[in-house]
Parts: sequence; C-alpha cells; structure tokens
Amino acid sequence: MSKPRYHEAVPDIDVEEFRKVVMSRRSVRRFDGTPLPDAVLDDCIDMALLAPNSSNLQPWEFHVVKTPALKKQMAAACLNQNAARSAQVLVVIVARTKTWKEHCDLTLQQWPQETVPKIVDNYYRKLARIHYTQGPLNLLGYGKRAFAAIAGLWRPMPRGPFTRADMKVWAAKSVSLGAENFMLALRAHGFDSCPMEGFDENRVRKMLSLPADAFVVMIVGCGKRAEDGVYHPRIRFERERFVKEH
Ligand SMILES: Cc1cc2nc3c(=O)[nH]c(=O)nc-3n(C[C@H](O)[C@H](O)[C@H](O)COP(=O)(O)O)c2cc1C
Repeated sequence: MSKPRYHEAVPDIDVEEFRKVVMSRRSVRRFDGTPLPDAVLDDCIDMALLAPNSSNLQPWEFHVVKTPALKKQMAAACLNQNAARSAQVLVVIVARTKTWKEHCDLTLQQWPQETVPKIVDNYYRKLARIHYTQGPLNLLGYGKRAFAAIAGLWRPMPRGPFTRADMKVWAAKSVSLGAENFMLALRAHGFDSCPMEGFDENRVRKMLSLPADAFVVMIVGCGKRAEDGVYHPRIRFERERFVKEH
C-alpha cells in the first residue's frame, strides 16, 4: 500500500483584494508621520518570512530600525532621501551567504513530520553541502565549474553557484522575494513603503555590525503615505516588450 500523501487545506481567495494590494502599492517618498503599530510591522515581517526561497534555506535578515537616533543616522546613510527621512520605520533587508549550512541542519532538526524522508535527508546532509560550498580560495567552486562544463556536454547540469558572486546572486533572489512580500503586506494593512538601494553600504554595515558574509539588498522605508507621497502616476512599458511566448 502506498503511503498517505500530505494535503493542505486551501482557503477561498479573492483576486480583486489581491489586485487592490498590488495596484495600490507605490513607492512612497513622503510619509505622513502616522505611527506604524508594532503588531502591523510584526505581521508584515512574518509574511515576508513566508516568501518562497531557494532550497528553503532562508538566507535573509530583517533589521528593524525605529529608535530615533539610529533612524536619523540610517536616513543619512540613505543619502537623506525623503523616503528615508520621513519613514516611521526603516527596515534593512539583508542577505546572508553563509547561514545556509546552519539552516541545512535546522531543516533536518525541525522537519515537520516524524521521519525525515530519505531524499530530503540526503539533500540537506550531502547534496546541498556540495552545491553551496565553494571552498577555500573558491577552489571547490572552480572544480565544480570544470566538472559541470565537461559532464554538461552529455547531460543537464547545474551551472552554479560556483563563486562568491554567484552566492550573492543566489541569496539576493530569495531575499528580494521576502522584500516584496513585506511591502505587499504593508499595503494590505493600509500602510506604504519605499524600497531603496540608494544608500552607503559601508556605513549601514557598520551601524548594524553586519558580519562579513552579509550584504544589504535594500532598505525599505515604511509608514503611511502623505497626500503628496507618490510623486507621479505609475509608468510601465508595453507588455510586449517583456512577455515572450515560446
Ligand atoms: C531594488 C530597488 C531599489 C530602489 N531604490 C530606490 C531608491 O533608492 N530611492 C527611491 O526613491 N526609490 C527607489 N526604488 C523605487 C523605484 O524607483 C520604483 O519601484 C519604480 O520607480 C517603480 O515605481 P512604483 O514602485 O511606484 O511602481 C527602488 C526600487 C527597487 C526595487
């Protein structure tokens, strides 16, 4: 007899409510000073943490900056942009390229069923460790790249990550999805955001004492939009430019 499969209940969904969230999310450059309740912020971060992410290795961190002195300093590091200066809270969204090993262990420890399926155990105990390790001086990464180049002549092979730069791209993909969940959640709560990459990373790293493997993906200004908080109507180019059917 085959094993019973896992089933999860799916709630009814209202696409129009989702559309309202997506359509009304704008990058807000002026916030009106309305306090952002902790419960709202916590809920938005909880939803960010539910974003899809590579191998479920959750390479993100959300650094919440709300103490006035640090917020002022952080806004200055964001080049004193209006979005940063007027935000109630600044959330620094950070990617980590070296937490994956610990997260492999945690996945195995916290597997939500009594026994860890063999394929999962094998992945987090062995395969992921080979896949994400680049080794000292990146030597293992170069070895994996050479192996993939040769074996790839005959069969499909993963073509990365093979370098520290690849690992940064790897982490940034997942962390960006977390950032988007976070901003949409704020909107669903009736609050607003502005993602920013205009900041002095060295200063931000120092302020938050970030470890060497961490990098800042974006800083999100959060709050309630001022009446003139959105500077102009939304611009998007024609769909045909971006959507290709094959
Ligand atoms: C990675 C990233 C970095 C951004 N950096 C800044 C920034 O430093 N300052 C700013 O005012 N807006 C910034 N934006 C917001 C974009 O300018 C904005 O998303 C874009 O113009 C589209 O407008 P919309 O978000 O209202 O649809 C950034 C957006 C992203 C995704």
